[in-house]
Amino acid sequence: MKIFIDTANIDKIKEIHSWGILDGVTTNPSLIAKEGKDLKTVVAEIAEIVDGPISAEVISLDAEGMFNEGMELSEIHRNINIKLPMCIEGLKATKALYNEGIDVNMTLIFSAQQALLAAKAGARYISPFIGRLDDIGHVGMDVVAEIMDILDNYDFDTEVIAASIRHPLHVSQAATIGVHIATIPYDILKKMAAHPKTDEGIEAFLADWEKTKNL
Ligand code: G3P
Repeated sequence: MKIFIDTANIDKIKEIHSWGILDGVTTNPSLIAKEGKDLKTVVAEIAEIVDGPISAEVISLDAEGMFNEGMELSEIHRNINIKLPMCIEGLKATKALYNEGIDVNMTLIFSAQQALLAAKAGARYISPFIGRLDDIGHVGMDVVAEIMDILDNYDFDTEVIAASIRHPLHVSQAATIGVHIATIPYDILKKMAAHPKTDEGIEAFLADWEKTKNL
């Protein structure tokens, strides 16, 4: 499974990149707003750090506006893909960008039906939001599994990005069903790397090693 980080924070991206496990980055308008810099500046900075797909989201709600914004953003760097919200205008813009050879990440996917339409329109990535489905009493991972089954039946080039990840279990569950990519917040990546038994084991080994110094 490819691992993306879901943030626009440069320091966090640099840190996770230094681990040697980072394949890409997703941003959204809320994450960009937290950084106090404009989208183009942030995305260009990210592209200097990570040599992999980077999602930049448009804010237009009509197909023409989405297409124009997408074309502009795609010029920032060859690794930029355009994040478009799932809606009928978004589908039209996806097809138009696909026809220009530009990758789209169709976001705010909450059902298998939406995912099917996004894949049909030529989305390179589709992002089902697991946590936000869980929040309203659905099992987000069930929707992701259904999407994976549908894509397996056909010959789409679309990859699924497990998004709106809220805890480490979401990541391992997504990997178990073969989801192509998980976009993971910084704090959850840190939690994934940690285990109290590992810390305890390191402490015990070091304590025992200290004892050998007196031999
Ligand atoms: O990639 C989409 C993701 O950022 C949404 O996460 O936690 O705001 O539902 P969340």
